[in-house]
Amino acid sequence: MSKAGVLTGGGDCPGLNPVIRAIVRKGLNEGYEFTGIKNGWMGLIENDTVPLDLGAVSGILPKGGTILGTSRTNPYKKEGDLKKLIDNYKKLNLEALVVIGGEDTLGVANKLTKDGIPNIIGVPKTIDNDLSCTDYTFGFDTALNVAMECIDRLHTTAESHHRIIVVEVMGRHAGWIAVESGIAGGADVILIPEVPIDIKEVCELIKKRHSRGKTFSIVVVAEGAQFKDKELITQEEKLDAFGHVRLGGIGDRLAVEIEKRTGYETRVSVLGHIQRGGSPTAFDRVLGTRFGVKAVELLKAKKFGRMAALASNKIIDVPLQDAVKELKTVDIELYDIAKVFFG
Ligand code: F6P
Repeated sequence: MSKAGVLTGGGDCPGLNPVIRAIVRKGLNEGYEFTGIKNGWMGLIENDTVPLDLGAVSGILPKGGTILGTSRTNPYKKEGDLKKLIDNYKKLNLEALVVIGGEDTLGVANKLTKDGIPNIIGVPKTIDNDLSCTDYTFGFDTALNVAMECIDRLHTTAESHHRIIVVEVMGRHAGWIAVESGIAGGADVILIPEVPIDIKEVCELIKKRHSRGKTFSIVVVAEGAQFKDKELITQEEKLDAFGHVRLGGIGDRLAVEIEKRTGYETRVSVLGHIQRGGSPTAFDRVLGTRFGVKAVELLKAKKFGRMAALASNKIIDVPLQDAVKELKTVDIELYDIAKVFFG
């Protein structure tokens, strides 16, 4: 019987468990056996594994997060970690490794295909939807729907109090969650990292809206959005193992400016990790299941160094190295649609 490893890394997101379940269910049918690696790349550095059998994946389809645990470990960061990781991988006697992750985790996977673990298959995960070569990553739809529901709820309180509410959403350096939740939730202004914020224009849009009788507005801002000619707003100076800053705080800055310039009372709601938690939507459960089944097909065909992907609603596979080459940012045509409803 062939044995493969399964690992989930980076920020957790809804849909990870449906992928794990699909890999194990399909793989067992195909004569594979699976070892779960705990907590992302950390599990290989520390040799922390669990058997992934039928019992382990029973009942996990609707569960958020990941039964394997995760971490933002970068094995290329600390001296000695890479060697430990490769040595432990060899000891496990695995034929291949299925890596479920976003830009950072799959970036490491791609490097490892050249540095000692050639038999890797990638599965694209992230609420940010910023991985190239796939129309969608799983997790995004759930985050989007959570954000939309929050925007709906904020509408009623903003309207009752005649306030502006600034809603700060996640997404790192891509504005997918902001633009799609903003369109779906009927936001009056949406601000994304791809387009620098012109605060004068934002306030004019709000004033224009209020001049036609409206007494409240909803402004959705992506955490990575930036004022023109100003620095990115971050929570702390410290970088994570992949060199990323921790974003957050743009909502507060924006609210202060809007209140000062328009005179309207303005409040902020930062949605944060609520967007990442909880049960996956049907879309994410189905997409995760399709990706998981595809990963096993790639395993069987020994198509290593490839990533399962969605293209025009078909599941395909693409070179892992292409998927991690550059971030997939918001399509400006989509932003133009959002702009029709501004003000
Ligand atoms: O990449 C997913 C994501 O939720 C981003 O949208 C966000 O910037 C980041 O992770 C938050 O990371 P952490 O969970 O480490 O605070």
